[in-house]
Amino acid sequence: MSATARKTAPLPDDIRAMKGGTPIVSLTAYTTPMAQMMDAHCDFVLVGDSVGMVLHGLPSTLGVTMDMMVMHGQAVARGLSSAMLVIDMPFGSYEEGREQAFRNAARLMAETGAGAVKLEGGVAMADTIAFLVARGIPVMAHVGLTPQSINTLGGYKVQGRGDAGDALKADAQAVAEAGAFAVVLEKVPETLADDITAAVDIPTIGIGASAGCDGQILVVDDMLGLFTAFKAKFVKRYAELGNEGEAAIAAYAEDVRARRFPGPEHVFGDAVPGAKA
Ligand code: KIV
Repeated sequence: MSATARKTAPLPDDIRAMKGGTPIVSLTAYTTPMAQMMDAHCDFVLVGDSVGMVLHGLPSTLGVTMDMMVMHGQAVARGLSSAMLVIDMPFGSYEEGREQAFRNAARLMAETGAGAVKLEGGVAMADTIAFLVARGIPVMAHVGLTPQSINTLGGYKVQGRGDAGDALKADAQAVAEAGAFAVVLEKVPETLADDITAAVDIPTIGIGASAGCDGQILVVDDMLGLFTAFKAKFVKRYAELGNEGEAAIAAYAEDVRARRFPGPEHVFGDAVPGAKA
């Protein structure tokens, strides 16, 4: 299935069926214009809880709320017609128990029209994933570096090196067996990502993982050079919109101070249109 040939948004099962085929393309989005820009090019679009850091200036994703996810989810939904919408469950909205996870996942789907939710965690979340899937909520899992757990992971480190590889592989297998339709692998060694991709029967979506994953995802503001607070090694900058934007703002400020803006083409005369002279 190619993004351009598609007439309607794919379902989670369509994404699952892309395992081993043409790589699945995905990006995050938080606003309508950004969603419109990527709709024809992505198989799915994720309203990531990275919105907290990228758009709201939060120091981590931990402060992101359900209300923020609903608002940004609705904005992104307005911009999509052919890519599937997946929405992140924010920190604290699902870890307490299966019922809490169902209640919040159902709200996210009902209020945004998302086709699936994403949540972080492997073996520890398998039971919750099975509970959600059995009740009509498609789940994308997220293992490896799970940013909602930075305080227990000791920061934004590569996960699964050395002896830790087996546990990470077990996490991916557990979420696949629990019924997740895809799993994000974040910041894991390339060989481990390839090994997991071969071992699980659902698509792996890499971010800082391997070109051998079944798909890739990036935070859109990172790849467009709009988020410049830091740049992770796994980010490829396809544009430098942050620099371009700042240069444009500086030029505007100079023009205003020098009374070069507005120019004659930006102002209105006092002649009434259509009136005889
Ligand atoms: O929140 C997010 O943007 C994510 C992606 C990095 C996978 O979870």
